[in-house]
Amino acid sequence: AAVRGLSTTAQLSKINNVTVIGAGLMGSGIAQVSANAKLNVTVVDSNQSALDKAQKGITSSLQRVAKKKHADDAAAQTALVSSVLDRIKMSTNVSDSVKDADLVIEAIVENIDIKRKLFAEVEAAAKPTTLITTNTSSLRLADIGLNLKDKTRFGGLHFFNPVPMMKLLEVVRHNDTSDATFEQLIEYGKTVGKTTVACKDTPGFIVNRLLVPYMFEALRLYERGDASMPDIDVAMKLGAGYPMGPFELSDYVGLDTCKFIMDGWHKQYPDEVAFKPSPLLDSLVDAGKTGRKSGEGFYKYK
Ligand code: CAA
Ligand code: NAD
Repeated sequence: AAVRGLSTTAQLSKINNVTVIGAGLMGSGIAQVSANAKLNVTVVDSNQSALDKAQKGITSSLQRVAKKKHADDAAAQTALVSSVLDRIKMSTNVSDSVKDADLVIEAIVENIDIKRKLFAEVEAAAKPTTLITTNTSSLRLADIGLNLKDKTRFGGLHFFNPVPMMKLLEVVRHNDTSDATFEQLIEYGKTVGKTTVACKDTPGFIVNRLLVPYMFEALRLYERGDASMPDIDVAMKLGAGYPMGPFELSDYVGLDTCKFIMDGWHKQYPDEVAFKPSPLLDSLVDAGKTGRKSGEGFYKYK
């Protein structure tokens, strides 16, 4: 990999310990790719059962990766899985888990108040040099980080689901993110094997600003009765080359997360037609049908 300059390299060697907060779909993937890159990882969740589920999810994802990498060598597969798992610790205590962190990556629920509260706890317990980041899909970093005392070490690392497979990492800077922080975040992205793009602190950054309105436009097409869900999905896969259709993708992302994203944007930009919520999505989320992770969303997965 290209060396970006001595100062960056010197600072970079400091990223050894990564703490991921939130052990859901995204946090478990971020933990996996970080540990796979030989970093020491602590995963924190307020919910012990989420940690247990993450442990299982990471193990089965690693098994898929190992099978591909060492097709005919069961011993090498086992060794790869256990060497990565050995680098991951799990905890329910935020303050203890961020004390030694060089980089904190927040991947909890997409809710501004809960994130702000968490960041206050993180900043109080972390070292004064720790880089503090969010994996938010849609919220403004300036809003999430409003109460941070040192905003220069705060930035965005926006991964994509499923993290071990998706090659992109959006690296987001807000007005106060320092150049050194931004460069270190880009280097971290390279360390974990991702291609990085630079994004400003705008709603949805690059990918979600295009992808989420597209997913909701598919919903509106269906709600108008213009086509069935399976036909819309087939059409976008075979006619536009997408790996998943918009309903399959929404179920994969999580319908609650899709709703949190759109509701937030709609509140902020009520006149923007691309940000209009969907009654159908709202009713599914109300019924606890949040997509693949709950066993049912637009489709059934049980
Ligand atoms: N861990 C490890 N490996 C995985 C995996 C995981 N979680 N998921 C899939 N794979 C691997 C499989 O082992 C398989 O490998 P081989 O082909 O070598 O056997 C390969 O990926 C393909 O998997 P499948 O055959 O099961 O299914 P697929 O061909 O449909 O691929 C997919 C799965 C990669 C998820 C693909 O469907 C895809 O790219 N879908 C679109 C995903 C997408 O758009 N994500 C972005 C969502 S938006 C977002 O994340 C941002 C946000 O803020 C909301
Ligand atoms: P998820 O629902 O799968 O997991 C969230 C986890 O956070 C849960 O395990 C929950 O117990 C935990 N949590 C909630 N509040 C907490 C707190 N205060 N302290 C510690 N743990 C807490 O959600 P997800 O899909 O992994 O999304 C997480 C973040 O990543 C969100 O900001 C989301 O917008 C973003 N994101 C999601 C996707 C996606 O495709 N799902 C993609 C990129 C970014």
